[in-house]
Amino acid sequence: FQKKLLIGKRILITAGPTFEAMDPVRGITNRSSGKMGFAIARAAIEAGAEVHLVAGPCELTTPLAATGKITRTNVVSAKEMHAATMQSRDCDIFFAVAAVADWGIAKPAKEKMKRQGKQAPSLEFVANPDILGDVAKTVRMKGGRPHPYCIGFAAESTELAKHAEEKRKRKGIPMIVGNIGPDTFGSDLNELLIVDENGSKKIAKAEKLQLARQLIQLVAKKI
Ligand code: C5P
Repeated sequence: FQKKLLIGKRILITAGPTFEAMDPVRGITNRSSGKMGFAIARAAIEAGAEVHLVAGPCELTTPLAATGKITRTNVVSAKEMHAATMQSRDCDIFFAVAAVADWGIAKPAKEKMKRQGKQAPSLEFVANPDILGDVAKTVRMKGGRPHPYCIGFAAESTELAKHAEEKRKRKGIPMIVGNIGPDTFGSDLNELLIVDENGSKKIAKAEKLQLARQLIQLVAKKI
């Protein structure tokens, strides 16, 4: 049973990986499936919200598209995801779920890079924009609450609670959701650690959609 706690609220979600092109046929990406972000989109619509989903390259279909409550912008690179997100940042809640590449390729080749004997090419990287950080900088107080209410995600291999709290403070956001366990990528299951100003608490291992529904209930009470 899902209470319609988010009627009239606008939710922005980034999801999936980004893809940083090296040339027209090659690039660098990561193992994010987009499942968690898409599950949050579905749970938000179930709760009565309107959702804008900014999705990196992934195979998933748009959840509950027939409701007309969701719009989707497909992007490839972190720069594109940044631009699409900044355009829609006027919302009630922003979930930064995407696994954004920290670095892009400085000068992607216009033509396919050719092999040159045994010599391997070297790549120059440039730092990508911090999408969540830039949205967080625009937050204003509205009715005594931060607008938008920003939620970041963290996948850490060690000391999740400590790193998540550090990340929350550094980014100046009220909530970080930590992925517990190393095998969340691509899986239908996950286990979450919610870190906010009151400390941290676990949401026990479950299907990503079940977790998303619990997370939506929790966040709805904050706004
Ligand atoms: O510390 P880190 O930047 O890895 O924090 C991860 C969180 O920040 C995630 O919510 C992720 O979606 C977001 N992020 C972002 N833009 C980046 C890097 C991370 O929005 N360039």
